[in-house]
Amino acid sequence: MAQIEHGDGFETLAIHAGQEPDPLTGAVVPPIYQVSTFKQDGVGGLRGGRRSASGHGAAGHGDVVTGPGRWVEGYEYSRTANPTRGALEECLAALEGGLRALAFASGMAAEDCLVRAVCQPGDHVLIPHDAYGGTYRLFDKVMAGWGVTYHPVPISDAEAVRAAAAAHRPTLIWVESPTNPLLSIADIAALAQIAHAAGAMLAVDNTFASPYLQQPLALGADAVIHSTTKYLGGHSDVVGGALVVTDTGLADRLAFLRNAVGSAAAPFDAWLTLRGVKTLAVRMDRHCDNGAQVAKMLANHPRVAQVYYPGLPEHPGHEVAVKQMRGFGGMVSFRHAGGEPAAVEMSGRTRLFILAESLGGVESLIEHPARMTHASAAGSPLEVPSDLVRLSVGIENCDDLIEDLRAALG
Ligand SMILES: Cc1ncc(COP(=O)(O)O)c(C=O)c1O
Repeated sequence: MAQIEHGDGFETLAIHAGQEPDPLTGAVVPPIYQVSTFKQDGVGGLRGGRRSASGHGAAGHGDVVTGPGRWVEGYEYSRTANPTRGALEECLAALEGGLRALAFASGMAAEDCLVRAVCQPGDHVLIPHDAYGGTYRLFDKVMAGWGVTYHPVPISDAEAVRAAAAAHRPTLIWVESPTNPLLSIADIAALAQIAHAAGAMLAVDNTFASPYLQQPLALGADAVIHSTTKYLGGHSDVVGGALVVTDTGLADRLAFLRNAVGSAAAPFDAWLTLRGVKTLAVRMDRHCDNGAQVAKMLANHPRVAQVYYPGLPEHPGHEVAVKQMRGFGGMVSFRHAGGEPAAVEMSGRTRLFILAESLGGVESLIEHPARMTHASAAGSPLEVPSDLVRLSVGIENCDDLIEDLRAALG
């Protein structure tokens, strides 16, 4: 049995946490438990014994009875708990330094679960004024209808967040850092203090950074959100989401809600994500190297008006990013000097960068946020510039990527 010890490094945890060889066969990776239900040895006699990372229990679907570090008494039904999903959850909890993790069918399912577990009708939430378009849509088109009011704030400006917290008395402050697609940086430690002083919870969408580059819980955040579709999965072959939290009560509420609505990750999806997680560290190092080189080239290109990359010293969030991130990632956005038509045209003209939504995979992607990922924010305070191009810089040969972009820029 692979023994994880206190102090094991990130790369070791990514490969071993939650992934001890299968006790039955010795299989060195967790099998895909592609099952809906589990045989009980007499009524209520459940088999199994994974330490609870998913908050499920033995008292029937939805009755959450486990606590931190306790072993579940067994498995009963895969909506409630599944060993493959449990392996991923244990690994993600270790990588984020959290108490418990929950894996979902998508990043949006994870977001929805967190908001509904934490907020009641009449509550207020602060969100980044440049949040991911789907997050904005969730608050604007779904949560608003259930009486949860959102207020966009520039989360890179801690004083603006403090003022908004005083004015709106939010239950939840929602942060992305870096943001999608403008790569704004929030000072997570400062915002955690502001949130807690205001009696609010701080949730950080860590999708762009991944736990390898940034660990929000260690900086004081209460919850981390992931679209595991992105860097954690890393191969553009699975959609998923995750929440990682530090509080048992919150973990239990999330597990209850996820089980009640049925938004958990499927076993095969959890397995694919876990396979991706094993190489997260080496992939992220290359994403960071390639991202930095691409950003530098763009910053010196005459057809580029502005580059957004936190690794550039001129980025307004650079100092905070240096303080709280191990590296600056592979996401780079820029404004095309030729305006919207040139940005749109270029997005369809690259050879290696594939014109597609999503990010964080090994292959490089290019997109036009205003017409693609952020179209749902059109006409809102979260509208993105129409001349903006977003790149997810992959781990191909960087010279090839740079040549591709140069040729497409003309
Ligand atoms: C920052 C961020 N958060 C959340 C999501 C939603 O994740 P999913 O597409 O897995 O539902 C995305 C998707 O692009 C994202 O970029």
